[in-house]
Amino acid sequence: MPNLSDIDTSALQNIPTLMGIQWRFLHQSDSTNSEIVRSLVDNPSEGLTVVADSQTDGRGRRGRSWHSEPGTGIYLSTLIRPNLLPEQLPILTLMAGLATVIAVNDLIPQSAKLKWPNDLLLNGKKIAGILCEYHPSTTKNHAVIIGIGINVNHTYFPSDIKNTATSLKLECGENIDRTSLIKRLITQLDFEYSELKNNRLQGLIDNWTHHTDLLGKTITITQNNQSIIAKAKHLDSIGRLVIEDESGQEIALDSGEVSIREK
Ligand code: BTN
Repeated sequence: MPNLSDIDTSALQNIPTLMGIQWRFLHQSDSTNSEIVRSLVDNPSEGLTVVADSQTDGRGRRGRSWHSEPGTGIYLSTLIRPNLLPEQLPILTLMAGLATVIAVNDLIPQSAKLKWPNDLLLNGKKIAGILCEYHPSTTKNHAVIIGIGINVNHTYFPSDIKNTATSLKLECGENIDRTSLIKRLITQLDFEYSELKNNRLQGLIDNWTHHTDLLGKTITITQNNQSIIAKAKHLDSIGRLVIEDESGQEIALDSGEVSIREK
């Protein structure tokens, strides 16, 4: 198995987890999420995990692209087939974010924070994002592709994102070992997924809440090109963000772009 720049692929073999058994390592991909989408014709089992050293068409949420420079970031997708109702699926984005923040914080001296629904911030700038994509199946449980992008050793970002994005290296001042981070991420993702399968949904939400500094803050929520100012209250039992608008009404959101107005 060839290494991907400094990623030691042999050290990632046989991690005793669902997501650490069936690996595909690629020097370059259009998008690791798309790699899994294409493989769905073969009806793969859950746990297939794709890692690329670079992406030429990395995707973010809301049709955005994901900056995927070679040899610096983590671009990883994994396939799961959860036994969840469609309205419960948004919890998977929170699950992946929680696993990512725990893995990252284990390797750095600082504390990254979650921003609902899918971002990780360090010192107020984005270091990672989650893109979950749902594909219905007629023969097996529906497929969900969890895509995780982490800015690890980048020292440069293009001008359109340089004020809002950062990397672990830029914030911590040293190179981070991508192999160790992938291993930690896969182990934590596997743990959080087992918790979910054992119906420990509330524990997952409580843990997510513990890793955010969003709640209690005044925020701007943008949905369908409309912005409202509200207070972030809490997450409900399926992971929706409950906000209180300016008239005092509580609303549970299942999507939206959040920015914090007050520090
Ligand atoms: C976001 O913050 O908008 C989500 C970014 C998700 C990026 C990752 S990188 C690995 C996987 N493949 C993709 O094309 N996107 C996700």
